[in-house]
Amino acid sequence: MTETLISDGFDSLVDLGRDDPTDLHGILADLRRKKPYAVVRHRGERAVVLLTEELVAAAFRDEKTFPAMAAYTRANQPVLGRTIQSMTGREHRINKSLVSRPFRNLAAEQLREPMIAPIVHALIDEFADRGEADLVAEFTQPLPIRVIASLIGIAETDTDQLASWAHDLFNFPHDPEGAHRAAREFSAYVAPVVAERRHNPGDDLISVLVTAEVEGERLDDEQVLTFLRLLFPAGADTTHLALGNILCGLLTHPDQWALLRADPGEEAEWAVNEGLRWEPPVSLLHRVCPEAVTWQGIDIPADTAVIFAITAANRDPQVYSDPDRFDIGRRAAPLTTFGGGPHSCLGNWLAKAEMQVAVATLAERLPGLRLRPGAAEPVTFQIGKALRGPSSLWVEWDLA
Ligand code: HEM
Repeated sequence: MTETLISDGFDSLVDLGRDDPTDLHGILADLRRKKPYAVVRHRGERAVVLLTEELVAAAFRDEKTFPAMAAYTRANQPVLGRTIQSMTGREHRINKSLVSRPFRNLAAEQLREPMIAPIVHALIDEFADRGEADLVAEFTQPLPIRVIASLIGIAETDTDQLASWAHDLFNFPHDPEGAHRAAREFSAYVAPVVAERRHNPGDDLISVLVTAEVEGERLDDEQVLTFLRLLFPAGADTTHLALGNILCGLLTHPDQWALLRADPGEEAEWAVNEGLRWEPPVSLLHRVCPEAVTWQGIDIPADTAVIFAITAANRDPQVYSDPDRFDIGRRAAPLTTFGGGPHSCLGNWLAKAEMQVAVATLAERLPGLRLRPGAAEPVTFQIGKALRGPSSLWVEWDLA
């Protein structure tokens, strides 16, 4: 027997596409106590929100029922072009494989010392002798942009402009005009670099993209540009918000910060994993169910919005004991923070390497790092209602 969505009943008054409730975790936990999914409003429309790790992980794997393309052809294709997010089946497999090599685990590990660590140190150098800083503005935000810029071999001096384009591209559903302008400007900026690397390939990411070949297929210049238009928004704001959330977790739990400081080489990996579980930056991922279906006992009408609540899955008490506690000692690796199934995150190894180097280096270089009294900013929704992170993180530390 299946449970049916009551025709005009909602399980909560909250609109997950519009509201920014201060106690999002509490609201989702209350709903999950009743059943593993809920019927809610999402921008005024009826939507199903999946609340347990089991359901969210199963939904990510089920590309047939919840095809990514059904969401992304509307959410970003008009501005980014047809990226791998709007592809499925063989086309997706080949195109993802064409761009994957530089992002594999080993490749990301090899970037730690020569590329990531110098960028992290350079950012810290800019404020280390000041004794206070807003870590969001001066550290978490510029870091991923500088890493991607360095990866594709373009001038690090242009990173403010790149950050602003990345942000505007992500913001397409809320400011389409700004996003189209960013797409035009970014494409004009990077197209000559793509053309140049095709003639003169080096060992940077763009050179890898223009020369990659899988099952006889290669990327033309427009396909390379489309991938680059996705790379910046996908890799920049996600990572900067994730790092902000991890630092929020650590600095609002000084005992956990002390554990990290005692052994950054060992603990950085677990601090990052726990932060990614406790407050995932991709919080409420919006998908669509195009066909009417009974899925995991839930009757879902055609064209219903389905929200993969990663935020709720990561605090599922069936999986994580005392799930609201921030505890790097739990040694947990969250299952759905980077998605799953065919569209799982391409950049997860790179993001983790960046964030591990970042927290370990902060712990090593800034003695007594702590939140500035009264200055802690709560984690809130950023860029619409899908991503979450702090908008500032004022800290101070002891000067020698
Ligand atoms: C902490 C940081 C990050 C988080 C939490 C994150 C999360 C995610 C999630 C949840 C998805 C799946 C989206 C879906 O199924 O609809 C995804 C896909 C993707 N991510 Fe990430 N991401 C992060 C960093 C990065 C970075 C650094 C890059 C690249 C530099 C990147 C590139 C991508 C790409 C290209 C996809 C699309 C994959 C596909 O459709 O096959 N991400 N990410």
